[in-house]
Order: sequence, then structure tokens, then C-alpha cells
Amino acid sequence: MWRELLPVGRHPDSHGYRRFAWTPADADCRGWFEEQAVARGLRHEVDRNGNQWAWAGDPALGDAVVTGSHLDSVPDGGAFDGPLGVVSSFAALDELLRRGVPLDRPLGIVNFGDEEGARFGLACVGSRLTAGRLSPEDAHRLTDGDGVTLPRAMEAAGHDPGSIGADPERLARIGAFVELHVEQGRALDLSGDAVGIASAIWPHGRWRFDFRGEANHAGTTRLADRRDPMLPYAETVLAARRAALLHRAVATFGKIAVEPNGVNAVPSLVRGWLDSRAAEQDDLDAVVGEIQDTARSYAEAHGVALDVTRESFTPVVEFDHALRDEIGRILGRDTDLTVPVLGTGAGHDAGILSGSVPTAMLFVRNPTGVSHSPAESAAEDDCVAGVLALADVLEGLIRA
Ligand code: GLV
Ligand code: MN
Ligand code: MN
Repeated sequence: MWRELLPVGRHPDSHGYRRFAWTPADADCRGWFEEQAVARGLRHEVDRNGNQWAWAGDPALGDAVVTGSHLDSVPDGGAFDGPLGVVSSFAALDELLRRGVPLDRPLGIVNFGDEEGARFGLACVGSRLTAGRLSPEDAHRLTDGDGVTLPRAMEAAGHDPGSIGADPERLARIGAFVELHVEQGRALDLSGDAVGIASAIWPHGRWRFDFRGEANHAGTTRLADRRDPMLPYAETVLAARRAALLHRAVATFGKIAVEPNGVNAVPSLVRGWLDSRAAEQDDLDAVVGEIQDTARSYAEAHGVALDVTRESFTPVVEFDHALRDEIGRILGRDTDLTVPVLGTGAGHDAGILSGSVPTAMLFVRNPTGVSHSPAESAAEDDCVAGVLALADVLEGLIRA
């Protein structure tokens, strides 16, 4: 499975993945998922929001155990963020069948659409729509960098955008959702464990800063006559770093658009996207507040207009304690070891679903902690340990 997926959507120069929602690379990933389902005799379906499901047993019976993750990527992402969870889900099902576990509860494997939000700017679109955390109206307004709206992109990929929206009946059939994911930090490497359990996801969000000045000639415009939006933007990037340090948070400007984007022109517009996260909501509020204050005062000093738009926000997620404890018991059963329980600054579909369904996550060790980069990795032995842990968890939940 891993070998089949590896070349899909990988850029020949960067070797990073560009599996963006509703593109041909995404379609290839979806084709692979359907093939895996069909090859195992699972019922394959695409829900109203474009999420893919593979079912062993009839989900209409309810109390289903569901596992899975996503197959899309960030720009030049790694091979593991998302796909490790989906591949491990199919492998764990194979392991359950090998063990002869009777599937007394329906078992589902899911590939959530557009988790990274790389194309339309909002993460977890598939799970947000399903959980009623994104309205169809707001989703219809999402637009990619080329001006293509989400509904047009869906249509072009053969999905009916008219049907998107909350799907409470689907969620009501799920008794537990477990997402396996490569760790996006080094906690497991440092603790010496192959597998860990998630405790919480930090509150996080994305803010768009539009600095508007005046385009002018880079050679002939006196410095004093310029209204250059790059200057307050640059001050804002530095302020973000200072504020994050001060408030035990992280703050990143990782995407920028400049108009007219000419070497010899003072820009008319600098648009930067801030991603900020913190363990505590108060810290996050303080960081984003300070960054905005700095941006405003520098914009004013340079005669530049500023608009700040919050494009998305996800409050803190505490995963279901009972399910977490049960998984800890299942994984610790044959050993004296306790499985590490860790928080994360990364967002996940599991976090979105946790408002509607008892949800848990397993993390697989990442030796460098690098993620959202082609250098993302996990050792094969650890991936196998992840599959076996997921199989143990699914078996334990099915038999419970
Ligand atoms: C998704 O991986 C995110 O944390 O942004
Ligand atoms: Mn990611
Ligand atoms: Mn992910």
C-alpha cells in the first residue's frame, strides 16, 4: 500500500507532496482508497461532503468503530501526515481478520477530504462540514489562489456541491473514532516510545493580514514619499516571533502574497497569513492581540491601510477521557509500560469530530519531529508497531 501511494502527487523537483483537494492528485489518492476498499470486499461510499468511507459490516446498525485520517497534503508536504493513518487503518483491518476477530460492531475506514486546507485556506473542510462546524454557505464562498471556488472545484472533480452540509445521522452511527497519525514533534523520540496516545489539541487559528499601500517606482520614489506595505508587514513578522516567545505560543507567517510582485516596484499590497497556536486560550488571545496591535501601529506610521480577517479558529480539544483511558488499558495490557499521553499543536479531523463522537488519537514516533516537509519520516518498525497498536485498539473496542 505504501509503495503504491508514494509516487502519487509527489513533485519531481522538490520531492514534496502536492495533493490538494479536488485536484487530479487528490483523485488518484481517492482512486487508491476505493481500490483498497473494493479489494477487501468493503462497501465503499463517498458522503455528501466528499469524505470517503469503507465499511466492514452495516453502519446502519450503529455503534460503529471508525478509524482513518486524510490523504491530502500541505504544499510540498511529507509522505506520512495523513496517509500513515489511512494505510495503517487498512493494515489494521487485515490484522484483525488474520487474528480471526469477529467483527461484532460495524468497522469503518475514512479518508476525510481537504484536511490541510492547502488549496482553499480552511483546514478540515470535509470533517467540519460533516460535523456542522462549517455552513454550506461559508463553504461555497471558499476560493483558491486562482479564484476557483470550492463548489466549482468539487463539480470539476465530479462531486455535487449542492449536497454539502451537516451529516448528523452519519455521525450518530459512530460509537468511537480513532485516528492514527505520525507524531509532529519529538516527544516519543525523547521518551523512547514507538506509539503514544493524544491528550489534547491546542487551540489554533489562521488570520489574514492585508496591508494596502501605493505601488510606485522602486528607483524614482523618494523614501519619504512611499507608502510601502512591506515595511509594516516585516515589523509584524518580527512582532509575531516576540509575542509567541513571551506567551509560550507559536506564531508563523508561512504564506505571503505581494502585488504587483515586481522587483522594481514598491508593492501596493502585502497579504500575509498568520498561523498561531498555544496550549492555553488566554496565551493565544494575547499573542494574536499583540501582533495585531503592532501591525496597526506600524501600518499607520507608514501610511498603509490594514485589514485583519480571522479565516478560521478551532478551540482547544480535550479528547474523550474514558476512551483515552480505555485505549491506555488496551495498549498497556501485556506490559508494565504506560503508553505516553501527549498534547499536540497540530490540527486534525479527530479534533473536529471530537465535538460529536468519542474520539481518540494514536501517534507514531517521528525520529526528527519534522513534519509538513518532505523530510517527514517514521521508521518501518515503528509504523508496524503503530498498525499493531491500532489493531489492538480496534479489537479491544469491538470486543468491549
Ligand atoms: C494541520 O496539519 C495543521 O495542524 O495545520
Ligand atoms: Mn498536517
Ligand atoms: Mn494530518
